[in-house]
Amino acid sequence: MEIAQNIDLKPYNTFGFSYEAKSAYFFQSIEDLEKLHQTHEWFRASNFLILGGGSNILLTQNIEQPVLINEINDSISIIEESEDHITLEVGAGKNWHDFVIWTIDNGYGGLENLSLIPGKVGAAPMQNIGAYGVEIKDSLHSLRAFDIQKGEMTTFTNAACQLGYRESIFKRERKGQFIIAYVRFTLTKRNHKLNTAYGAITSELEANGITTPTIKDISNAVIAIRQSKLPDPKKLGNSGSFFKNPVVPLDIFETLQKDYSNIVGFPVYNGVKLAAGWLIEQTGWKGKQIGNVGVHKKQALVLVHYGGGKGEDLLALSKAVQDAVLKKFGVTLEPEVNIL
Ligand code: FAD
Ligand code: EPU
Repeated sequence: MEIAQNIDLKPYNTFGFSYEAKSAYFFQSIEDLEKLHQTHEWFRASNFLILGGGSNILLTQNIEQPVLINEINDSISIIEESEDHITLEVGAGKNWHDFVIWTIDNGYGGLENLSLIPGKVGAAPMQNIGAYGVEIKDSLHSLRAFDIQKGEMTTFTNAACQLGYRESIFKRERKGQFIIAYVRFTLTKRNHKLNTAYGAITSELEANGITTPTIKDISNAVIAIRQSKLPDPKKLGNSGSFFKNPVVPLDIFETLQKDYSNIVGFPVYNGVKLAAGWLIEQTGWKGKQIGNVGVHKKQALVLVHYGGGKGEDLLALSKAVQDAVLKKFGVTLEPEVNIL
């Protein structure tokens, strides 16, 4: 395990903010975690920050605690296989998109709608990553995680992870207690359940003259749609959607509809999910820049860093956006990004 002192975290967060970490531990195996457990009180007390690809965090200060950087091997192994299904186990250090492309190239279906999401496999269950009508909840079999206090591995079934919209038990009751080390997915080998219902996918396939899409076609369509509106963090600092789409009770939605007849909302089991991007756009914030940070011009839910700015500036911008939405619509936007 490599250990470094006083490192700049700029390459380790996709916003590209420059803050210093006093120490960083690049762990590559369960053995590395066991060693940390045996030798460091701060580890056993969970007094550290863990990072995968840094694509869902906002740094706003130097990090005094040790930073653990997940470089667990990127192995893929077959756990179970039948004629119809395969269950794979993936090392938490594998790049998510590379894994998705590997599954598609091997003819396994289930993750194609989740193409091009940045980050590593280990962080994917943290917020039950989702896009274009699919979440990992739909194919996650189970995961194996390192219990930070006990110093041993434990297994969580899909149900035990309590996956919800951008939520899991690891963000709530069990926060700071586990390091996700291996994730298992059950995917289809044939009769793939294709998800093309999400509006833009259908039109993208039609535009390319595809009537009977393969999982590869869907992946390509998702990649094209994403590239058309989401900024590439290598070119423009961002961490995807900064806020979650808020869910409001049906009666609140109906009241809002009276004032805003074109408000965008999708029915969900506990109310109506509003499009936060639409709400932000209506406040006039879309495309605005303040100093080195701003609201993306193609997608109002994405806050961006143009370079040379500070995380505090972006946090202040996010608060101004939240206030504007609250004032205009009476709706509170909750950050999706983990703020440090
Ligand atoms: P990090 O940002 O490094 O960590 C995220 C959180 O998980 C932190 O709290 C961290 O402490 C914790 N963590 C990380 N690894 C572990 C581990 N092994 N064990 C325990 N805790 C851990 N998300 C979506 O859901 N859907 C999208 O469509 C989507 N699109 C995006 C587009 C762009 C351009 C960007 C920049 C981001 C997007 N995201 C999206 C958000 C992000 O990519 C995902 O949340 C991703 O899973 C984060 O992975 P990461 O490795 O970068 O995690
Ligand atoms: N919209 C606007 N103005 C905007 C942006 C969006 O009016 O500036 C409207 C769109 O017209 C559309 C609706 O809002 O009617 C939804 O927009 P979009 O399809 O772009 O998706 P989103 O709700 O903004 C969510 C996820 C994304 C995910 C996409 C695709 C959340 C918080 N975000 O975005 O996930 O990729 O759907 O499924 O749920 C992420 O979590 O980081 C992320 C990028």
